[in-house]
Amino acid sequence: MSVGVIVLAAGKGTRMRSETAKVLHEACGRTLLAWVLRAAEHVDAERAVVVVGHQAEAVAATLPRGTDSVIQEPQNGTGHAVRVALDGFDVLPESILVLPGDMPLITGEAVSDLIDHHRATGASATIMSVELDDQAGYGRIVREGDVVSRIVEEGDATDAEKSIGEVNTSVYVFRAEALVEALDQITTDNAQAEYYLTDVIEILDARGLGVTAMTVASELGIGVNTHAQLAEVSGVLRRRIVEDLLDSGVWMLDPARVYIDASVTVEPTARLYPEVYLTGSTTIGARASVGPNVEARNTVIGAGAVVKQAVTVDATIGADALVGPFAYLRPGAVLEDGSKVGTYVEVKGSTVGAGSKVPHLSYVGDTTIGKNTNIGAGTITVNYDGYAKHKTTIGDRVRIGSDTMLVAPVSIGDDAVTGAGSVITHDVPDGALGVSRDPQRNIDGYAEKRRKRAEREQD
Ligand code: UD1
Ligand code: CA
Repeated sequence: MSVGVIVLAAGKGTRMRSETAKVLHEACGRTLLAWVLRAAEHVDAERAVVVVGHQAEAVAATLPRGTDSVIQEPQNGTGHAVRVALDGFDVLPESILVLPGDMPLITGEAVSDLIDHHRATGASATIMSVELDDQAGYGRIVREGDVVSRIVEEGDATDAEKSIGEVNTSVYVFRAEALVEALDQITTDNAQAEYYLTDVIEILDARGLGVTAMTVASELGIGVNTHAQLAEVSGVLRRRIVEDLLDSGVWMLDPARVYIDASVTVEPTARLYPEVYLTGSTTIGARASVGPNVEARNTVIGAGAVVKQAVTVDATIGADALVGPFAYLRPGAVLEDGSKVGTYVEVKGSTVGAGSKVPHLSYVGDTTIGKNTNIGAGTITVNYDGYAKHKTTIGDRVRIGSDTMLVAPVSIGDDAVTGAGSVITHDVPDGALGVSRDPQRNIDGYAEKRRKRAEREQD
């Protein structure tokens, strides 16, 4: 049985009250539409077509290769959308799988099961339905015994019909030819004055072509029409991600308080403390300990690294490195194995060599630090002169004294030392001490003199 896939994603999503097209809202780092398309990948489809309309270009730009889009203009309802999509098929497949673009909890397994069910019953239409406690807004499945006779939308339903708990998920498999014929007969004679896809059900049933519904776990059928529903589905997706990681051997002190995007990899034996936000291409190595309070975006955290109270963006943290508490790694920060970036330290566009340490209160920007070097507390790389950024190079086994200002461009040789409080404006050769500060002078008896002067002034 050849299958074509149609995903409906042209609607505006008025109830989101958002500038962004509804299907482009994200849950756990993926758009609603991308979640649906991933489920559709389980189907060995001849062709997948996404119906776009509202913000068509922006939506089409997110589609994976091999998925086509067709434009529905104006957006005259779900029935109209499917008709537009069918026009995009040169050859009709035997069956059409329809999916709404706003139902991210649908799984590939459920879609495959629906297709199997459809094949087994030989029906002209197989609807995926769910039983909901709060069915407001959904189309109700009207049955006569086992036979589905029609779907009635909320706005067109009688009170008795509104009380039906079984609702339409907007996932269906149709026999393609029967669908095309039925779509020619639907009208806009309804509460929303739109062509409802749901109306083909009554037409197919009346023609005796057989309509069935397969009920799946209610969670799968949550459609996102509002921000409340977006938050609800995000919570479910988050829980699924966390449960998979727990099953794989990741330790979490409190699984309800970690937030991990679908795109993130966490190796077994890693440890996650509460209030951890992992997004983008972040990967966490084995035995690494992350949190509490870490926000890591597109960050590689190496095996055995410890990261706490930190924000990291586009950064790489080597094996067994230590980060935080209270550190900020900005784009291009590379911490080699066994290095340390400690408390109130910001690193940007810089490499901290293996075994090197920047333990306290420093800014390191556009800098290369060699191996086993120590950067004293309060050191700043002065990389910006108001016009351009300049580079600092620090060698191996260097000891930068506390409160050193390294005015870039500047280079500190291997085994060199800088005196605490120095403003270093010239290169320091290998093994040399660079120091720049006024000699200290002590004024003996100063406190006594000062007290006497104050007493005289009071008289
Ligand atoms: C629809 C179903 C309802 C079902 C519910 C499940 C109809 C008439 N109603 O209602 O039975 O219970 O989904 O969530 O089908 N879309 C287009 N073009 C359009 C209109 C909509 O592509 O002209 C797309 C939307 O972008 C969305 C999907 O179709 O992804 C569903 O549309 P939506 O307006 O959300 O329908 P519901 O009112 O939720
Ligand atoms: Ca919907």
